[in-house]
Amino acid sequence: MTTFRRRLLTASAAALLVLTGCAQPAAKPFEPTVGQAGKDVIWVPTPDAVVERMLELAQVKSGDRVVDLGSGDGKIAIAAAKRGARARGIEFNPDMVALSKRNAQAQGVQVDFRQGDIFASDFSDADVITLYLLPHLNEKLRPILLDMKPGTRVTSHQFQMGDWKPDRTDDLEGRQAHLWIVPAKVAGRWSVRVDGQPELAVHLVQRYQALEGHLERGGSQVPLQDARVEGPRVSFAVPQDGGTARFQGSTGHGGPMEGTVTLADGTQKRFIATRP
Ligand SMILES: C[S@@+](CC[C@H](N)C(=O)[O-])C[C@H]1O[C@@H](n2cnc3c(N)ncnc32)[C@H](O)[C@@H]1O
Repeated sequence: MTTFRRRLLTASAAALLVLTGCAQPAAKPFEPTVGQAGKDVIWVPTPDAVVERMLELAQVKSGDRVVDLGSGDGKIAIAAAKRGARARGIEFNPDMVALSKRNAQAQGVQVDFRQGDIFASDFSDADVITLYLLPHLNEKLRPILLDMKPGTRVTSHQFQMGDWKPDRTDDLEGRQAHLWIVPAKVAGRWSVRVDGQPELAVHLVQRYQALEGHLERGGSQVPLQDARVEGPRVSFAVPQDGGTARFQGSTGHGGPMEGTVTLADGTQKRFIATRP
């Protein structure tokens, strides 16, 4: 083979490699940019101090199922996993999902990062939901969150949930961390039975975690005092024999309410309340 033909063959092989892509340099690893577009909201990471405050507000503990909706680079879910939680992140951008997995591995924690749209994902098994989205997205999530099991904790960086006011808000130098506790749905008429006493009819009027109502007694309506619903727990008081009878019980969505009533003389009795 002549030198000319050898050079021609070498040049042709090199051209083939370029054409097939084999000679291209390795792709640079994905690097996110703060403010990059997301499906419904851009990516901006929550500062570390706010992440920790959100997890504290939600009292995240070992074994809790924590789901970050729109998990970005994974930092909230990773911080939850470091507290022993079974953490999950749902993120639409597949590059961010891959980055989150690398971040979790580098930090030595197990986190379940999934690519998906938060509005088409099932996270009903969560004990804690974390959010850094936008007010209108929080409001869109609100009915889904309110259908979660009573007592589920929801924490949001900065943005609120429309007229469902937070149970608590902490301010960290201008940034806010909010907490909501999903209340049991208790509105309506309840038939309350206390050991050995006639049945009582109680009407509860509920607006998220705010509760009021009345007891039917002798054809009149006696307003309830100190009515509260916090997660699955319900409490209210009614005047009784010159004192007060205090009811404290708990219920799931749609189930009976069971608990203890402390009568005016201090006696405690069990009560069970059902919907007619
Ligand atoms: C403001 S960032 C918050 C990231 C992370 N939760 C944090 O606080 O550090 C919002 C994230 O939601 C993602 N996102 C936007 N719309 C989404 C959707 N419909 N489903 C899943 N992820 C979404 C964006 O890609 C972005 O990473």
